[in-house]
Amino acid sequence: LLGEHKDSSLKEKGTKRILWADDAMPVLGSIRQQWEVTRPLEGVCIAACLHVTTETANLMRTLKAGGAKIALCASNPLSTQDDVASALNEVFEIPTYAIRGEDNEAYYRHINQVLDFEPMITMDDGADLVNFVHTQRKELLPRIVGGTEETTTGVVRLTAMASKHVLQYPIIAVNDALTKHMFDNRYGTGQSTLDGILRATNHLICGTTFVVVGYGWCGRGVARRAAGLGANVIVTEVDPLKALEAVMDGYRVMPLADAAPLGDIFVTVTGNINVIDAQHFGQMKDKVLLANSGHFDVEINIKALRELAVNVEELREHVLQYTLPSGRRVRLLAEGRLVNLSAAEGHPAQVMDMSFANQALSVEYLITNSERLDNGVYPVPEPIDHNVAKLKLASLNIDIDTLTPQQVAYLADWRHGT
Ligand SMILES: NC(=O)c1ccc[n+]([C@@H]2O[C@H](COP(=O)([O-])OP(=O)(O)OC[C@H]3O[C@@H](n4cnc5c(N)ncnc54)[C@H](O)[C@@H]3O)[C@@H](O)[C@H]2O)c1
Repeated sequence: LLGEHKDSSLKEKGTKRILWADDAMPVLGSIRQQWEVTRPLEGVCIAACLHVTTETANLMRTLKAGGAKIALCASNPLSTQDDVASALNEVFEIPTYAIRGEDNEAYYRHINQVLDFEPMITMDDGADLVNFVHTQRKELLPRIVGGTEETTTGVVRLTAMASKHVLQYPIIAVNDALTKHMFDNRYGTGQSTLDGILRATNHLICGTTFVVVGYGWCGRGVARRAAGLGANVIVTEVDPLKALEAVMDGYRVMPLADAAPLGDIFVTVTGNINVIDAQHFGQMKDKVLLANSGHFDVEINIKALRELAVNVEELREHVLQYTLPSGRRVRLLAEGRLVNLSAAEGHPAQVMDMSFANQALSVEYLITNSERLDNGVYPVPEPIDHNVAKLKLASLNIDIDTLTPQQVAYLADWRHGT
C-alpha cells in the first residue's frame, strides 16, 4: 500500500540522499543492525508525523527493521523533501503521505490517512497527530499504548493536555533528552537556520546586525553561528535568566521594540505567538529580512504584516517582499515557516542521529513499559540518554576517563572536608 507523494521519478535521487544521511548516522545504524536480529517491534503499528527528510527516512527504516508496521506523514506543509517521500514509498516500501507545499486540507488528510493504519504508537513532531487523535479520531484511543514527541512546542502542548487531564495515553518527551535538545536544538538549529537564510538570500552575514528573538536551546545556537559568521548579534528575551546568560555570552540584550530599528536580519525561535508584531514592522529598516525557526508559523504576525502592506511581491524562491505605506520593504523568508527545513534541508544527519536514536529506543521502552505509565508526559529514561551519548562518542572514536574506585567512594562520602 503506497502513500501519497509528488513524483515517482525522484525516487532514485531520494534513495541516494537517504543513504548519504545514513552514512552520518552511526548510532541509529547500530540500533537498526541489532534490531534486524532481535525484532523488538514485531507487529507494532506506528503512525509517525515528522518532517519528511533524509534523516527521518533512516528512522523509518530502523523502525521497520525492528519489525514495526509504519505509516508516515509530514509535520509541516513546507518541510517535505519530495524525493525522500518518493523513495520511502517506492523503494523502502514505507507508506508516506507528504507533498511539499501541501495545503491545510491535504496536511490534515494525510494525518487522517496515517491514522487509518490504526496505530499502537504515535510519533509526533509538534503534537498535531496526538491532537488529531484526541479530537477527530477518538475511536483509536483504546488501542494506542503510547507516543513520542520530538520538539519543544509539542512537549509544551502535550504538557498542557496532561495538566487539563485531556491526554489519554503516555508520551515520552524525546525533546527533553539531553542527547536531543543540547545538540539538535542548539547545534542543529544553529547551523541549519543560517543555512536556510543563506540558501534563501545568498546574503553576506558579516557586518549585519542580527537579532535573535528567544535565547533558549535554539536561540543559543542561532546566535552563536551568526556571531561566528561575523554578525553583530542582539538577543531579545522575556526570561531574566536567559537574558543574563546572553549578556554574559557577549551579546547585546534589549527589548524587541528597541532592536526593531537596528536589525538587518531577525530570527524568531521562541515557540510563542506574535513575538514580532504590527508595532515592530513599521520601525524596521528598509529591506529587513525576517525569518522564523520556531515550530509554527505564528511567531511573526504575518496576518498583520499582510494587512499593513500596500504591495506583496515574490522576489525569489522563499522571499516574499511586503512594501509598507512608508515605502520601506520587509522581506519574509519561507512564509514564516521553519526556515531551516523550508529553505534548506533541516538539521545535519550527525545530530539527528542522536535525536532519532532516542526516538527508536523510546518506542522500544514504551512497548515494554506502557502499562506502568499513566496518561502523562515522561522523560526519556536516563539510561537511554546516557547510552546514546556513549554510542555517539564511540562512533567518533573518542575515549573518556572512568572514575577510580577511590574516586567513586570519595564522591559518595560526606565526611571529607578541608
Ligand atoms: N527549526 C527546527 O528545526 C527546530 C528544532 C528544535 C526546536 N524547534 C522549535 O523552536 C522553538 C524553540 O525551541 P527551544 O528548544 O529553543 O525552546 P526553549 O524553551 O529552550 O526556548 C524558547 C525561548 O524563547 C523565549 N521566549 C518566549 N517568548 C518570548 C518572547 N515573546 N520574546 C522573546 N523571547 C521569548 C523563552 O523565554 C525561552 O528562553 C520551539 O517552537 C521548538 O519546537 C525548531
